[in-house]
Amino acid sequence: MARFTEASKQAVLDSIDAAAVVGDYLRLEKKGGRYWGLCPFHHEKTPSFTVDADRKYYYCFGCHKGGSIVDFIMEMDKQSFPEAIETLAKRFGVSLSYEKGSSPGEDKSGYIEALADLYSRVAASFHYILLNKGEGEKAKQYIIDRGIAMNTIEQFRLGFSPADRSWLYRFLSGKGGFSKDFLAATGLFSPKYPSASFFSNRLMFPIGDKSGRTIAFGGRLLEGEGPKYINSPDSELFKKGRTLFAVDLALPEIRRTKEAYLAEGYMDVISLHQGGVTNAVAPLGTAFTDDQAKFLHRWADKVYLMLDNDEAGQNAAYKAVLCCRRNGLECAVVDTARFFNGKGETPKDPAEILQKFGSQALKKSVKCAILDIDFVITRSKTFKDTAQSVAFLFPYLDALDSEVARDVTIGAIAQSFGVEYRAVLDDYNRARQPERQLTAEKGVPSGISAVKKTFRAGDELYLLAAVFVNPGLFKVLRSALSPEDLEDSNARELYIVMEDWFRLNSDLLSGEENMTGIETGVQFCNRVPARSGNLLDMIPEGDLRDFILRQEASGAFTNPEKVLSDGIARMRSKILERRRREITRELRHTTHEDAKEADLLAEKMYIDAELKGRHQVKQTTRGAE
Ligand code: UTP
Ligand code: MN
Repeated sequence: MARFTEASKQAVLDSIDAAAVVGDYLRLEKKGGRYWGLCPFHHEKTPSFTVDADRKYYYCFGCHKGGSIVDFIMEMDKQSFPEAIETLAKRFGVSLSYEKGSSPGEDKSGYIEALADLYSRVAASFHYILLNKGEGEKAKQYIIDRGIAMNTIEQFRLGFSPADRSWLYRFLSGKGGFSKDFLAATGLFSPKYPSASFFSNRLMFPIGDKSGRTIAFGGRLLEGEGPKYINSPDSELFKKGRTLFAVDLALPEIRRTKEAYLAEGYMDVISLHQGGVTNAVAPLGTAFTDDQAKFLHRWADKVYLMLDNDEAGQNAAYKAVLCCRRNGLECAVVDTARFFNGKGETPKDPAEILQKFGSQALKKSVKCAILDIDFVITRSKTFKDTAQSVAFLFPYLDALDSEVARDVTIGAIAQSFGVEYRAVLDDYNRARQPERQLTAEKGVPSGISAVKKTFRAGDELYLLAAVFVNPGLFKVLRSALSPEDLEDSNARELYIVMEDWFRLNSDLLSGEENMTGIETGVQFCNRVPARSGNLLDMIPEGDLRDFILRQEASGAFTNPEKVLSDGIARMRSKILERRRREITRELRHTTHEDAKEADLLAEKMYIDAELKGRHQVKQTTRGAE
């Protein structure tokens, strides 16, 4: 893996325009000091996702996800840290330099570009052969007979791979000028016979990434022996489970409508687009994956499933429903049978609807959708036993992302089976114990979401959070308090994290001039990621980290110095009072002969005086106000 020099990594971090980066993924609006948009990590209708351009952080007030812009890229594009740095370097035109001995990612991205370039050339050649060459004629006629129009063929750049398996190799190594080794790694040739094309005598479907680069192919057999479809093997560029067919073509409409259609196959998607359903995509011969759902959820709130009308397709639809819900997507299922009811045999997929009934029928049929819950309830009714049917619906309940939705759905299930709400709830709770329990009486969920609500900041945590967000103040805190003084375990954790971090970066702790004031605190904060990791990253994900991000993002602590001085004063008093109570307790067990008693009494006198003094200071300042 690539290791960048500190300086060049820092240059990348400095160059980041946070709003611009996040703006590549979602719509942002500036309001107040920050940018707001719909959170890409959870389902929401009003924006609670924010970007702080100055501090280069993102934070969602709804789902409490947050972190640096590097974290954002890692999360959104499923990249490793070095990959995210490379992405950002490219985005802002910063050139990275690498430590000696580490394999530069630059080579990798250069390689990826060359690979993408090769794929688009190959796609263009296949397309040309389909449309203009005698050997493509049959395939062209086939696709036309299936009702696909010329401009659709062009839009999808459908192609034909020649029957001669050595044609592609000759073409690319000769005129193309690609080296033998490079071609061997493209995934276009047989691993055993490097000059034999993986695809031959097939109708070709180029597969694009979200920006329209060709990254793989699917190929359909039209005659002879072999699997009906084959797809490019996974590569640096192409991961089957993370790619959706036609996503590049569908994205504008998905963005506009916040909805997507999910079909089963290449031909279905092509047919849907031709029928005007231009937000249709499909997985690539595998089940719909969580990665694909998350990817769609960046732009869509809802997915319409339009999988094949056979048992396999309907089973896949059931799994896709769960996958959608699990990832916060609303979901509906197109009920083709109902649309065609009374009009003869139901067509098996969108491609058949287009071919037999035309564009208009296809366009209308997609509107005939039912709620996913109604779809799963119908499927559950194949069990004879009601309890079994209801239990079949528990994974669906699990997948819902809110307690309210779960509650409403339990009601719908109860009604549909003519049983008591309470009975469904009890069975569900029993099946799910101890992981999740709904409190029937109050209707209030216990568990994670409830913990979050009761997570409140006591004085200690508030003080430590103020310092954490303004780490320039830690030095002052550290000289006044030690971790043992803190009773709140979260506050103690923050203290320890900062202590650790400063020890790792001991030169910063000694740099006196950098250490005071909110301004330097901010600068400091921005310098943090360049050092031994981000301070924030040292807190594991969870309620505490959420709390910090929430404080950070809501712009709490406008006057952190005051929070610090007040907090320390209050803490000192608290510590003294605690110690006085201890002394009082101990004095009950000592006698005059005890040497210890004298010490304790002396200490108590000192504490009494100190506390009295503090009390008076407070009184006089109050009086002056
Ligand atoms: P289908 O067999 O339903 O094909 O497989 P299709 O797309 O509807 O094509 P037509 O209409 O029969 O021509 C659905 C999807 O499953 C994958 C492909 O992605 C296909 O589009 N698949 C299918 C494979 O990967 N390999 C296969 O052998 C079959
Ligand atoms: Mn099909």
